[in-house]
Amino acid sequence: MRATAIAQPNIALIKYWGKRDLERNLPAVGSISITLRDLFTEMQVELDERLTADTLAVNGSVDETMLPRLSACLDLVVGRVRPRASVVSRCNFPVAAGLASSASAFAATTVAAAHAAGKSLGVAALANLAGRSSGSAARSLYGGFAELENRESEIAVSTLCESDQWPLSVVIAITETGPKAVGSTEAMEISRKTSPFYANWVERQDDDLQTARDAIRQRDFEQLAAIAEHNCLKMHSVMWASRPPIVYWNSVTMRCLQTVRKLQGGGAGVFFTIDAGPQVKAICLPEHVQEVRAALAATEGVIDIMESGLGDAARLVEVS
Ligand code: DP6
Repeated sequence: MRATAIAQPNIALIKYWGKRDLERNLPAVGSISITLRDLFTEMQVELDERLTADTLAVNGSVDETMLPRLSACLDLVVGRVRPRASVVSRCNFPVAAGLASSASAFAATTVAAAHAAGKSLGVAALANLAGRSSGSAARSLYGGFAELENRESEIAVSTLCESDQWPLSVVIAITETGPKAVGSTEAMEISRKTSPFYANWVERQDDDLQTARDAIRQRDFEQLAAIAEHNCLKMHSVMWASRPPIVYWNSVTMRCLQTVRKLQGGGAGVFFTIDAGPQVKAICLPEHVQEVRAALAATEGVIDIMESGLGDAARLVEVS
């Protein structure tokens, strides 16, 4: 059986950093994200009894590096005793550079694999499975503003606000291309084991989640901006204080932050966030998107700019 699904990446405003259970990939903290509209990953999964091994092609090229995680994801969704799969992926943005490509890839794979295996699973079950492959992937099963709740024994995601109820824009400044030095799974464990700030990060997360939830409910952009920037800088402080230190930023990342500060000084509705990579994501009010885009594009060292609105949940596009 063959099935194809599409998922968009999501960007966390209140970050997931750290695991409470490595085996089940349960996050140590809750998180809140926005799902994007214009960046996507399409995954076609074909289960075939004649195959002797799983295969993966990303944008037309064989990809061996992602294959072990992909096979583990298929084991989780289809079952450990299963036909091998031929997986074909299409993605319209740079993979593994801190643009949440694993979130959209595992969300789409989970949906496609479940259908290819003839399993009819609800969105909560799919989010649980996707989250076991990559924590942030669970959030791409939902559109708009999604919260991955802080639960002890399962992954649970809920929608806080649909994409059209608060249609913010996102401008992404690409400051570097190529894969990141340390993957987030490994980096989180280094932080958990060595960062002197880790315990405080976990302890204070519920307060940040509450502040962000309130801001989203009241459509209070300034409050959301303040808590999202604070939470982002706090996560990176946890990383920087780890041993070895984990520093995803480069000098252009910093310059983009200064650009955002200047825009804010001029009255633009914009704030920044940065994930496990050097790219800067500027979340803005739609009426300021052109100004934000132009300012980031003019920032020295910025390689490329991407833009997106907020989008909907991962979905099946074809089954045969
Ligand atoms: C910084 O979901 O990639 O983007 O569960 O180990 O696959 P794994 O981690 P992943 O981590 C995302 C980290 C982050 C913050 C976030 O998206 O919440």
